[in-house]
Amino acid sequence: MARIAPSILSADFANLGNDIAAVIDAGIDWLHVDVMDGHFVPNITIGPPVVRSIRNQCETAGVVLDVHLMIEKPERYIGAFVDAGARIVTVHVETCPHLHRTVQQIRSAGALAGVTLNPATSLSTLDEAYEIADLLLVMSVNPGFGGQSYIPASTRRIAAIRERLDEIGSDAYLQVDGGVKPDNIRSIVDAGADVLVAGSAVFGRSDGRTIADNIERLRAPLRLSV
Ligand code: DX5
Ligand code: ZN
Repeated sequence: MARIAPSILSADFANLGNDIAAVIDAGIDWLHVDVMDGHFVPNITIGPPVVRSIRNQCETAGVVLDVHLMIEKPERYIGAFVDAGARIVTVHVETCPHLHRTVQQIRSAGALAGVTLNPATSLSTLDEAYEIADLLLVMSVNPGFGGQSYIPASTRRIAAIRERLDEIGSDAYLQVDGGVKPDNIRSIVDAGADVLVAGSAVFGRSDGRTIADNIERLRAPLRLSV
């Protein structure tokens, strides 16, 4: 079954350890960390100190820290995030003029290398990434904030990337990030995604639902047979 990777961007930062414990109890094994610098995207979030602060809790539970760098000059921070506990580091093609070198830098630091692109960036910018990346991330919202709506055109992009990965026999993860909800998660997986980032759908606290309830609502559509 496809894997859900909760994004802590929508977690309660005053109770981050408790929110992480709740997703761990729900059987989550990836945790998505959205790093934003206020330059590449119009928001500022967290950095290596917060990753370091949650590392022990995650590693003890076998949870992979999946760090998404929405920052300019990401090559300057790869070492710091890996040292802080990142096991996957994903960079944007829009911020990496030397993408091949940056992917090598991530791998040399000991992490899996992810490559991602914004919703209006041509898929052709990934052409050389298929052979070198461990993960390809499709942004299905404009990066910067949680709680946005899924951009429908993303589904076609997911399918195109899935086709290319299968064509070359790549076992890279195909991750989708932004606006993933119970009512669209199945179609996103059917298009070819195998890792679904979900922030507000997991940590949103509407209607008195718990985090466990939210995760179950995302998993249920994936269990339905075709
Ligand atoms: C947006 C982030 C996403 C976001 C997902 O810039 O990269 O990971 O937190 O949040 P939801 O699931 O609420 O769209
Ligand atoms: Zn993200």
